[in-house]
Amino acid sequence: MKKHIAVVPGDGIGPEIVKEAIKVLDCIAEKYDHEFTYTHVIAGGCAIDQFGKSLPEESLQQCLNSDSVLLGAVGGPKWDDVDPSIRPEKALLGIRKELGLYANLRPAKIFPQLADASPLRQDIVAKGIDFMVVRELIGGVYFGEKKTEEINGELVASDHMNYAEHEIRRIAHTAFQTARKRHHKVISVDKANVLDTSRLWRKVVHEVAKEYPDVEVADMLVDNTAMQIVKNPAQFDVVVTENMFGDILSDEASMITGSIGLIPSASLGDSKRGMYEPIHGSAPDIAGQNIANPIGTILAAGMMLKYAFDLDTEYAQIEKAVEDVLADGYRTADIMEDGKKHLSCSEMGDKIVEYLNKA
Ligand code: NAI
Ligand code: MG
Repeated sequence: MKKHIAVVPGDGIGPEIVKEAIKVLDCIAEKYDHEFTYTHVIAGGCAIDQFGKSLPEESLQQCLNSDSVLLGAVGGPKWDDVDPSIRPEKALLGIRKELGLYANLRPAKIFPQLADASPLRQDIVAKGIDFMVVRELIGGVYFGEKKTEEINGELVASDHMNYAEHEIRRIAHTAFQTARKRHHKVISVDKANVLDTSRLWRKVVHEVAKEYPDVEVADMLVDNTAMQIVKNPAQFDVVVTENMFGDILSDEASMITGSIGLIPSASLGDSKRGMYEPIHGSAPDIAGQNIANPIGTILAAGMMLKYAFDLDTEYAQIEKAVEDVLADGYRTADIMEDGKKHLSCSEMGDKIVEYLNKA
């Protein structure tokens, strides 16, 4: 298989972690006879320094011309005072918008080797945590009309939440298709007891569900979901929800795994081309020291193989190599424990490649 990947290293630790993910992609390409080519795309704070904007037209074109986008992280204190209209995060929003990426997939998975890192009780962790939050990304209250006005002598602010059927339908399809690649179970999260948008959400999700008779579907209210994620996370496979609920629940879900450096995410649209990145930021406090954990980015590259290129076996190989490396006691600084073997960022990348090669 031949694929062209737009690589956006970004700022801070971005370049260091992306380099390790490319090592892993190159190893997979060689092993399974694929051809991956890369374009290095300048976006984020580094693009502001060079071009005065975080997403230059040429950078956007390079993403649009690729089969998929792999991103490190953007931003940092250096750009805290730049004009809000050119902030580094605008690069992310710009790519999402131009590529039509309306679905954000974030796995909450705990590696048994790192079970201690979870803030949850160990008997709950022992039942297994492995689910995927599918969050609607470009609709809902974050994108609705906003205003602050003076009424009867005081300020009144409002944020309008709306969803059209087509916006719900497409994210529901993403959720059911994701469930087909997993354990065939979708929980749709809403607040249908009070919100009209949620009642429409529920209706459309169940219409779409009829097209996926092999996938089980159930509804759950968002407040109950927040409780269930800490009480009984083993019950979840795919959780689909609107933008704001998903923002909150996906952060909750990643925190119960206890390790920000290990979690990947994917933003998807109608085409297979998506954007794949770790969930963490540019970690300016540790940038340039070769101590960052590259695993989140390596798994993001893995998700790209699975969701953009349908290379399920290759994805599984990467995940297994990561698990085996952890099981054999190798750790980066952020997950270091007594008695384990300490690796730098680049050594962790090399170690995962070594395990891939011997698998
Ligand atoms: P952060 O995720 O960059 O860092 C939080 C803490 O986790 C820091 O102590 C950092 O050293 C540590 N950390 C993060 N990733 C790590 C890794 N791979 N290995 C080891 N330790 C890791 O969040 P923070 O500090 O709030 O934001 C820093 C900058 O990143 C800000 O400018 C922010 O806007 C930006 N950011 C960018 C995102 C993106 O590009 N998608 C997402 C979140 C923040
Ligand atoms: Mg958030």
